[in-house]
Amino acid sequence: MENPFKYGVIVRGPYFADRQNEVAELTGEMQSLSRVFLVSPRRFGKTCLIYNLLDALHEKGLATAYLDLNAYPDLRSFAAAFAQVTSKALESDTKKLLKIFAGLKKLRPKVSLGLDGSISGGLEVAAEEKQALPALLEGMSHAEALANKKKKNLVLVIDEFSDLPKYDGQILEKAMRSEIQQHSHVGYIFSGSEESVMLSMARDKKRAFYKMGRIMDLGPIDRVSYTGFILEWFEKGRFKIEKEWIEKLLELGMDVPHNIQRLCHALWDLARENTHISDSLVQELPFVIARQDSPHFELLWHTASTQQQNLLIALARDPEAKPFSGGFQLTHGIGPSSSIKASLDSLAKKNILMRTKEGAYRFHDVFMQYWILSLQE
Ligand SMILES: Nc1ncnc2c1ncn2[C@@H]1O[C@H](COP(=O)(O)OP(=O)(O)O)[C@@H](O)[C@H]1O
Ligand SMILES: [Mg+2]
Repeated sequence: MENPFKYGVIVRGPYFADRQNEVAELTGEMQSLSRVFLVSPRRFGKTCLIYNLLDALHEKGLATAYLDLNAYPDLRSFAAAFAQVTSKALESDTKKLLKIFAGLKKLRPKVSLGLDGSISGGLEVAAEEKQALPALLEGMSHAEALANKKKKNLVLVIDEFSDLPKYDGQILEKAMRSEIQQHSHVGYIFSGSEESVMLSMARDKKRAFYKMGRIMDLGPIDRVSYTGFILEWFEKGRFKIEKEWIEKLLELGMDVPHNIQRLCHALWDLARENTHISDSLVQELPFVIARQDSPHFELLWHTASTQQQNLLIALARDPEAKPFSGGFQLTHGIGPSSSIKASLDSLAKKNILMRTKEGAYRFHDVFMQYWILSLQE
C-alpha cells in the first residue's frame, strides 16, 4: 500500500482530511455568489481546501476556475490567464472556445497543435504592458457576459491574492472592484497567506477592496476528525497505533496540516521498517524530518549572524519563553533587548522566524527548531 499521507502537493479525495464545515460554509457562500477573503498563514491548507471545494461545486453544476497569482509575474500574463481560464470553465467545445478567443479585442489568440493532433487554444496580451489592464478588464466583463449567455454560474478563485499589489496598483484594484461589482453570475474567493496584506486590503477604508466580502480565517483542521482520519489510514495499513500518539503528532506539528502530514508520512515509512510503532519512534520523528531537510536549514543558518544564531539556539531550547524577559536573556547569555529586537526583526524578514498574531515569535518551519537542537548534541 502506498503512503497515504501526502505533503507538498494538493491532496484530494480520500487523502484529504476533514474540512467538512469549511467546505459546507464556502459551498453556501458560493451558491449565493458571494465574495470571500480566505486568510491563513502558509501551509494551513487553503489551496487544498479550494481544490476540494471546487471539485464539490463542479459536481453541483457550477462552472469553476482557479488562478494562482504566483504563476503570473506581470499583469499581462495574469490578464491573459484570466480570460483563458474563465472562458475554458464556461465553454468546453474547442471550436467555440477559439471563436471566443478570436472575438476578444485586447487579447491575441494562440493556437497550438498537440502531439496527438488535438488543437488547443490560449491567449496572450497583444501589445505592451500598457494594454494589460484594459485586457484584464475585458476578460473580466467577458467572463460575466459568457456566464450569463450560458446560463451558468461561475466560481472564480484567485489564490495568493496578497500578491496583487506586485502589479502595482491602486488603479488596478479600483478598476477590478468596479468590474466585480457589476457581476451577478460570478462568485469570488480571494485567498492569501500574507495576513496583514489581506486584512488591510479587505478592512482598510482607503483600499479598493474595502468591505467587498467577508473574511474567513482558516484555522487548523478539527482535531477529532483529523485524529480519526489518521487512525483510519494506519489501521488500513495494518499498523497498531495508539490514539495518544496521534495527539502527540498534532502537538509536535503545532496543528499545521503540512507538518502533520509530514510527521505521519515519516511515521508510516519508519513503521514499515520496524513493523510496529513505539513511543520512542514518535519522539524521534521531528528529528528524522529535520535531517531530511538539513541542506535547506544549513543554507538558512548561514544567512544568520552569530548573534542571531545564538538567539535561535535559545529559542529552539526554550520556544515558549518571552525573548524580552530578563530571565530568558540571563539563562541563555544573550541581550540586551534592543539587539534582540533587531535580531528578531531580521530573522522574521529572512523567513526563519515568524511573528504570530499574539506578537510571539515562532520558527517558520517547526522542524528547523529540531535541526538546531540536533546541532547542539
Ligand atoms: N485537509 C487536508 N488533509 C490532508 N493534508 C492537508 C490538508 N490540508 C493541507 N494539507 C497538507 O498541507 C500541505 C499544505 O497545504 P496547502 O493547501 O498548500 O496550504 P496553503 O495553501 O494554506 O499554503 C499540503 O501539501 C498537504 O500536505
Ligand atoms: Mg496555497
